Amino acid sequence: MARPGDHVAGATWGPASGVDRTAGPPSPSLSERKADHLQHAARPDVVHARPTGLAAVRLRHRALPQRDLADVRLDTELLGVRLHAPLVISAMTGGTGTAGEVNERLARAATHPGVAMPRGPARALLDHPGLLRTSRAAPGTEARPPLLLANLGAAQIRRPDGPQRAAALVELLGADGLSVHLNPIQEAVQPEGEPRFAGVAEAIAEAVAVLAPLPVVVKEVGFGMDGEDVALLARAGVGAVDVAGAGGTNWALVEGRRASGAGDLAGAFASWGVATLDALRAARAAAPGLPVIASGGLQDGVDVAKCLALGACAGGLARVLLLAAQADRADEVLGTVIEQLRIATWAAGAPGAGALATEHLADGAHA
Ligand SMILES: Cc1cc2nc3c(=O)[nH]c(=O)nc-3n(C[C@H](O)[C@H](O)[C@H](O)COP(=O)(O)O)c2cc1C
Repeated sequence: MARPGDHVAGATWGPASGVDRTAGPPSPSLSERKADHLQHAARPDVVHARPTGLAAVRLRHRALPQRDLADVRLDTELLGVRLHAPLVISAMTGGTGTAGEVNERLARAATHPGVAMPRGPARALLDHPGLLRTSRAAPGTEARPPLLLANLGAAQIRRPDGPQRAAALVELLGADGLSVHLNPIQEAVQPEGEPRFAGVAEAIAEAVAVLAPLPVVVKEVGFGMDGEDVALLARAGVGAVDVAGAGGTNWALVEGRRASGAGDLAGAFASWGVATLDALRAARAAAPGLPVIASGGLQDGVDVAKCLALGACAGGLARVLLLAAQADRADEVLGTVIEQLRIATWAAGAPGAGALATEHLADGAHA
């Protein structure tokens, strides 16, 4: 637990510094911030100014797919767990009544077809176990995605007891592993943020050792990763990276909408980061054997199919599913994404999503 005087980092999606960790609910400012995130992240003007790059990638079109659509297989194994489709509902916030509802809708949507979902913010859950109901439904009734990852931030993992707390979080949620988010730009722009990243790579390596054999996945939050970051993470022993590239939700812009001071800083980062396509390619080149989840700005099942053909093991979506969950259409929209993935796989000539490869890309799109 935090010692008195500890500077608690990671204000992003977790409690603000100075929160009384023995108390029940989080401070109103925390709840307000989370509600703000949900509200602002749904706005059209918080999307990256530069696209993902995936529009330039084309899958082949086979007028003779040579099999029935119904015979196309989508099931896959991710981090040792069998999923109905290679899809991840990217981590989204918990911690307020609204977030609880959104999380429950997303968890339900992930459970029925059987796709993966990280749960955030696990850190807040550990400090305020009462929040568990905002991140999962009541015991017995709760939807449990087949692959569930506890999600916390870089700033928390680098604390002296970070890896041990990570293990406790995984246990609290009954999760299958840990997902750690890296969000330097957001921490730097957010007024409450704490951009302290010294020792994060070492702490991730320690968390890998503490949690083994459960996997640790490291993700960005929409600015992508450089190949050198991926190489460092591979050396740290992570089970997968989720590049969460630029082209979708831009968390500098979200923070800029929340606070006027942050707005002045944020605008310059409207096109910052590694576009999702470039981040995926860089990750594959930097660590050829490491599973790479592609996310950041993915819009539909065709985008997911393109990423799989480029070597990703799964595709992740946040914003699209947040908007769907807010309209209580998460099941429907996720179902549509899955069906789009099936049709794209079929029409590109692959027997299944797991078989999508460079040979299914139209000329000009090289992995
Ligand atoms: C409302 C909201 C809350 C989020 N909360 C978290 C979080 O708690 N942890 C995390 O790792 N990422 C979080 N993210 C980032 C997403 O997981 C994702 O990486 C990012 O939004 C880029 O994907 P997108 O372009 O599909 O939205 C959040 C995103 C949204 C929209």
